[in-house]
Amino acid sequence: MDASTAGPPHWDPYNQKYFANPYPVFKRLREEAPIYHNEEYDFWAVSRYDDIQRVLGDYETFSSARGDILEFVKANMPIPPGVFIMTDPPIHTAYRTALTKVFTPKKMNALEPQIRAFCAKALDPLVEGGEFDFVQHLGKEMPMRVIGMLLGVPDQDLKAVQRDGVEKLESERGKPLDLSEHDFVAEGFGDYIDWRYKNPSDDLMTELINVDFKDETGTIRKFSRDEILTICSIIAGAGNDTTNRLIGWTGKTLAEHPDQRRQIYENRALIPQAIEEILRFEPPGPSVARYVAKDTEFYGVKVPAGAAMCALSASGNRDETKFENADTFNINRERKPHLGFGFGFHACLGNALARIESRVALDEILNRFPEWECDLDNAQLASTSVMRGWETLPAYTPKAKARRANA
Ligand code: HEM
Repeated sequence: MDASTAGPPHWDPYNQKYFANPYPVFKRLREEAPIYHNEEYDFWAVSRYDDIQRVLGDYETFSSARGDILEFVKANMPIPPGVFIMTDPPIHTAYRTALTKVFTPKKMNALEPQIRAFCAKALDPLVEGGEFDFVQHLGKEMPMRVIGMLLGVPDQDLKAVQRDGVEKLESERGKPLDLSEHDFVAEGFGDYIDWRYKNPSDDLMTELINVDFKDETGTIRKFSRDEILTICSIIAGAGNDTTNRLIGWTGKTLAEHPDQRRQIYENRALIPQAIEEILRFEPPGPSVARYVAKDTEFYGVKVPAGAAMCALSASGNRDETKFENADTFNINRERKPHLGFGFGFHACLGNALARIESRVALDEILNRFPEWECDLDNAQLASTSVMRGWETLPAYTPKAKARRANA
């Protein structure tokens, strides 16, 4: 009997088998253990859509103050000021209000031509050969470049910042994240912030320098240099791997649904709803965590203060009580809010940008590769426990496949 059907449901976030396909276990959790306790790692999990919204909507019971990743919540490590993703109201509200002023749809939309040009440059050389990798050729590079465009950091210096701040969230396969050397701040941004103080431009970094910030004490002031450094680091950390994984899932999911891909190819107005369905069907962040700040209860089971709670968003996105035929990928389904960008206070600040990036990427891919198949034998799932997605996802066009077969 398969482990996902034998005995009581068991979800191990580090087990590569569940990582590769968590959905059968998530289904069992929703049906048989909607409040689940994992003994081995000592955390709780909710898997139903409504319960996930309850957790993410109640910061007094389910706090972000120890982080939103299971390993952080368990580690209870000191979190430096300004890491607003790991705060609750009123501190979080103060940051979020100021950031919403600078993270405007207008600013995000203005990046579209540059994003399109980057995709063209990355994909054009691959057209003739008909073989490309969704992650290595596009997903791995593009989101970081876009963050560079947003913040005004030149391409050649992004790599150092990326190494500094982002790759530290990678974990060894099958193991929890090692936080012993975690640094919340990518120091690499420091030089650019200093430069921007002297050379203002029209980028987000300049806006962060100039925006009025009403802090949690009610004082209206500017962000300090250190706060700007922290905010830039959070944006780079939150906006990179997530979007990368979404591009990978776009490649995989549409390869497996060629009829729907053809519909999109023929009618590009379907791209936005296709991206929403991919975010529902294969969300790059399958789970967010919270610290249980006071005793609470689900289905008569007490969850004690001090516990770690996972909200399994990827499971909520397959909740049959919310989404008809939830396990079916259907770009034409009735639109309902998915949990791919989270929910509530901390719902993704960069969602407008992520949507632009993924829509443009898909459009530009289809312009060059109307059809493709993924080479799953040579694809590799990423090992990070935080994000679920592909590290490599090679693909080839029908013509390249025929060429391979004749070689
Ligand atoms: C497909 C791409 C993306 C996905 C799936 C995604 C997903 C998420 C999720 C689930 C959360 C909620 C975390 C929580 O509740 O604790 C979140 C928060 C956040 N995201 Fe994204 N994200 C994406 C892209 C981006 C981009 C491109 C940026 C910025 C450039 C960004 C910046 C942020 C920030 C700053 C937060 C914290 C918001 C807060 O604490 O108020 N994200 N994201």
